[in-house]
Amino acid sequence: MEAAARNLAGHPDVQIAQADVFHLPFPAATFDVIVSIGVLHHTPDTRRAFEALVPLLKPGGTIVIWVYPDQGAYKVRNAWIPFTSRIPPDAFYDWCRWLIPLTYRNPEHAVARQLWKLFPYSRQGLGVEWDVLDTFDGFSPRYHGTHSVPEVEAWFRAAGLIDVHEAGPIPTAVRGRRPDPA
Ligand SMILES: C[S@@+](CC[C@H](N)C(=O)[O-])C[C@H]1O[C@@H](n2cnc3c(N)ncnc32)[C@H](O)[C@@H]1O
Repeated sequence: MEAAARNLAGHPDVQIAQADVFHLPFPAATFDVIVSIGVLHHTPDTRRAFEALVPLLKPGGTIVIWVYPDQGAYKVRNAWIPFTSRIPPDAFYDWCRWLIPLTYRNPEHAVARQLWKLFPYSRQGLGVEWDVLDTFDGFSPRYHGTHSVPEVEAWFRAAGLIDVHEAGPIPTAVRGRRPDPA
């Protein structure tokens, strides 16, 4: 948020607020659109964090969220989180800075492929710096909820939202709309 505030300084129509999703400093029915990417699953209760957002929608407003899917690397990471999230952040970060450049030496080597299956480090093709940061980001959070599309869609419906559907090709991105009685 601090970087966003710096990047967007000089845009008087943008307001940056840093707050806990469970105690957001906005009155009900404030927003036409709410977008949450990769945040709600880092709380102790993903569904409750989502439910904290819904009242902030104006009638007719749209909410779209993306949470970790309960599949692939995300699912494997669940087994690591109790361990990796307890490593002091500086030490784990240093370790990521050591591991990821090593995997770049020969990414298709059988050892690297086996290692990735056990410990799915980031290899997004966006460069070593990105993969170091993304590996740290993926394995260090204390809370790491993983969810299915039907589960998330059920939260939307239970919250009274309509037009609930997947928001795109990325799994567990879901959108819905608050009914407008007018
Ligand atoms: C992986 S980042 C995603 C950030 C951004 N949406 C993006 O796509 O780049 C997860 C963010 O969730 C935030 N977060 C974790 N728990 C939170 C909470 N209880 N309330 C608000 N934000 C929280 C963290 O501070 C972090 O910035």
